[in-house]
Amino acid sequence: MLRTLEIVERDEEYVGIILDQRALPLEEKYLEVRSSEEVARAIEEMAVRGALAIGLAGVLAIAISVLNSKDFEEAMKSVKEAYSRVRKTRPTARNLFWATDKIMKSISSCETLDELKEVAIKTFREMAKEDEETNKKIGYFGAKLIKDGQNILTHCNAGALACYSFGTALGVIRAAWREGKRIHVYVDETRPLLQGARLTAWELLRDGIPHTVIVDSAAGYLMSKGEIDLVIVGADRITMEGDVANKIGTYTLAVLAEKHNIPFYVAAPTSTIDPEIESGDQIKIEVRSEEEVKKFLGLEVSPRGSRAYNPAFDVTPGEMITGIITEKGILTKPFKEKIAELFKK
Ligand code: MRU
Repeated sequence: MLRTLEIVERDEEYVGIILDQRALPLEEKYLEVRSSEEVARAIEEMAVRGALAIGLAGVLAIAISVLNSKDFEEAMKSVKEAYSRVRKTRPTARNLFWATDKIMKSISSCETLDELKEVAIKTFREMAKEDEETNKKIGYFGAKLIKDGQNILTHCNAGALACYSFGTALGVIRAAWREGKRIHVYVDETRPLLQGARLTAWELLRDGIPHTVIVDSAAGYLMSKGEIDLVIVGADRITMEGDVANKIGTYTLAVLAEKHNIPFYVAAPTSTIDPEIESGDQIKIEVRSEEEVKKFLGLEVSPRGSRAYNPAFDVTPGEMITGIITEKGILTKPFKEKIAELFKK
């Protein structure tokens, strides 16, 4: 099974191995990182991306800073630097903040370097395993919503590549396929960085799942022709009211789905829900470089004198979402009460 990042021990040194998603689908190559700064850059430059993968990469940054330290004081100093550096990389995905807090909590009571190293690597591996198990639960809950013969539309990449493994929205599709349902997936190319055309299509092809890549602007036309039965996307942050931040263009799909009476589902673990945020307007939306829009795979496509605007995410109001598929089951409206219930337990 595809896994996006690992820690290995080599020649008495710990190395983080990250599947470099910038090279996909043409090449499957791996990046080696030895410091938290290298991990932070891998996140900023999108070698590793997707909310859950970024979260685990944050854990990797902290773990690697401990694992390659020479004494306890140095390790504690590096941990603090790693924690604050990595949390500045990308602001929208809640899992980066959730996951880095989680490893900080587990190492906080360590008193020796050996103990710190043991707990850091154990926490990384446990969180990776938990990601995979959680996503499988999401997948098999969500698969119940998919009927044999359906056409599903997805946006961006919420697959194994966006996580440690298996995927969330794509995990649901994967689970339905494994259950024997004959499905077909329309894949939004997802400009500007083409996570759909490059990454989701690559994952679907690997699994042999029938799919067709479309330009983002074709979704409305396909819906109007009755070609889409269901939309499933992932999430970067979910508010207590059920508003969802996800890749730019997700909101457009929700509006279109509402117009055409097509169910619109979000698949995400409960760790993506931010208990401190009530509604979508409080979510910090990352704005990325103009260059990503003005260039297409490195080739200039806009005049140099033109400006571009590149918000990486948008917010879909909870009222437009049919259901949120989590590892604890499928949440339906009103989300506010159901989400509050989750946090009471
Ligand atoms: O900018 P990206 O590629 O990190 O955005 C990724 C998404 O929007 C995904 O849908 C989301 O993170 C889901 S992660 C399982």
